[in-house]
Amino acid sequence: MMYRILLLVALLFSFNGAMHAQENADIVVNAEHKIAPIQPTMWGVFFEDINLGADGGMYAELVKNRSFEFTKPLMGWKSEGKVKEGNFLVINRGFESEKNPRFLRVSTESATKGSLGITNEGFRGMGIKKDLQYDFSVWYRQPVKGLIMHLELLSDNGENIGSAVFTPESTNEWKQGAVSLNATSTVAKGQFRIWFEGNGQIDLDMISLFPTDTWKGRKGGLRADMVQMLADMKPGFIRFPGGCIVEGHDLGVRYQWKKTIGPIEQRQQIINRWNTEFAHRPTPDYFQTFGLGFFEYFQMAEDMGAEALPILNCGMACQFNTAEVVPLHQLQPYVQDALDLIEFANGDATTYWGKVRIALGHPSPFNLKYIGVGNENWGPQYVERLKIFTKAIKEKYPSIKIVNSSGTDPEGERFEYLNKELRNMGADIIDEHYYRRPEWFLSNAGRYDSYNRKGSKVFAGEYAAQSDKTVSINNRNNWLTAMAEAAFLTGLERNAEVVHMASYAPLFAHVDGWQWTPDLIWVDNLKVYGTPNYYVQKLFSTNRGTHVVEITKNQLPLTGKDSLYASAVLDEDKGELILKIVNASGKQVERNLKIKGVKRKDDSLKMLVLKSDDLNTVNSIDSPMTVAPVESVIKSKGSKMKLLLAPQSLTVVRIALKK
Ligand code: AHR
Repeated sequence: MMYRILLLVALLFSFNGAMHAQENADIVVNAEHKIAPIQPTMWGVFFEDINLGADGGMYAELVKNRSFEFTKPLMGWKSEGKVKEGNFLVINRGFESEKNPRFLRVSTESATKGSLGITNEGFRGMGIKKDLQYDFSVWYRQPVKGLIMHLELLSDNGENIGSAVFTPESTNEWKQGAVSLNATSTVAKGQFRIWFEGNGQIDLDMISLFPTDTWKGRKGGLRADMVQMLADMKPGFIRFPGGCIVEGHDLGVRYQWKKTIGPIEQRQQIINRWNTEFAHRPTPDYFQTFGLGFFEYFQMAEDMGAEALPILNCGMACQFNTAEVVPLHQLQPYVQDALDLIEFANGDATTYWGKVRIALGHPSPFNLKYIGVGNENWGPQYVERLKIFTKAIKEKYPSIKIVNSSGTDPEGERFEYLNKELRNMGADIIDEHYYRRPEWFLSNAGRYDSYNRKGSKVFAGEYAAQSDKTVSINNRNNWLTAMAEAAFLTGLERNAEVVHMASYAPLFAHVDGWQWTPDLIWVDNLKVYGTPNYYVQKLFSTNRGTHVVEITKNQLPLTGKDSLYASAVLDEDKGELILKIVNASGKQVERNLKIKGVKRKDDSLKMLVLKSDDLNTVNSIDSPMTVAPVESVIKSKGSKMKLLLAPQSLTVVRIALKK
């Protein structure tokens, strides 16, 4: 259970008839004053294949380097037994098979089980679960029948915890074969071994092992526990595939969506830019198989009822790396990729890309409404490319909303330049990023109070409070960072007229394979846990409401006065008034709460409190719920209540209303 249910009576809130607190200390919610609708997209998720987020993470494939395309073709594999020269040969077909050039040729002479084999180490080991079925598959070519393959799941200690035999047929053409294995134990760092028996030669490619407990049971699908964490947030949108991964270290390894759809063995693997990005966190075995590709991203968004928000390369590589730009006269293919993507998502059977989607098994459109052009790009070179994209997209698809980049930082010369230019261009949505210290988040809770209500809307596209500093390996997802974000999010919510989308970044990190910290959700090969930051995000997302209403103290919004930050929303669908209040001080705070313009349905109040006495508190694999919301229902009558806010807390109050 995500929340512990407590039934308290009347301590935190109580009818205040007897109280004589001063009017000017009251928190006043005027529910009659509906400031603006809250967009269904308000709270979403940002996905990037960083920190083993996709390969080695959400994409449930257990075999690392299944098609021998890593820079070192046998990385992740170990030969076993009495290996002689020529037993294993990596063959590169080059232009004959550009998307998947390499395969492994195995030649044996009188091999017996245990005398010649290969073992795959997985991504930091393989998470294997007792009694679960694992699906092995392989592409092979064996002109003369002669070999059989003994498959073994191995425990952390190398013991056999599941086996099967695969008997390839004789075939001159590549053929796919499959067999299943059942695991007899649960291990976090298992491996997978193949012993060869017999005489002969066999070519192997796409050696794959998948658990069968994937999200929605899809074959070759996603890790269900990780996707469930996202689904639990009820996200309004899913932004994908990043992040800097969109830009690429150079243009040659930029993200190209067309290469990520269709048969898995035809999705051309490339290096992951996070493989080499940080000298202090190198990850030489990080590549992109694109097993989680654009079709799967759209499908996942659809599963969750979230809007898909794909971000495309704008003709510029990462400006922290090579900063390559494509010359303007060669930009057309990039623009075409954007137009084709919209057709892929929304087109019918009369269109080329609509037909492609239908052939992939999705006859109805994905109803794409948003597209991002560029990730963290900046400068005049971005503006001139963006203008070309915008013209082409708006001409063909006027209703598609385009997300524009405002660069890497929420202030400074680059930001000021872009913010002005983009607003002059009439940008639909401007993506702002903030990786800042907790103090910044606390002191910026009023950032959007002065933003133009009429102009471009804001996508708070990447934020995370840094307990140390950006890119430091010492950053922790502690309660201080989460509480500071919560204070900031009240500011986003109060300004729902301006802010239409918001997402924390990065989303996932593997405890043994991360490059960047902090991250919203951490995993190992078997388990997953939400950080305090996750619970903040989830509390906002699952208590979104339909309209932001006025909340003030002394007629002013609560943006840090007396260490209080607050926002209030009406949920007209559920008939509720929902308050979110952060008390960032180390003391319990008592305030009167007055609600105007609505009648309560009953005397119950639902309280969700997230807090910790120690600002350094973190969650972990072994202690995943140290900071997690505690739910209680209290009784209190009337429209004026005494409110006791715990020290260092985020409190969500839900008040049922008469229709
Ligand atoms: O979230 C990690 C990185 O931070 C993203 O890839 C990039 O957009 C930002 O710099």
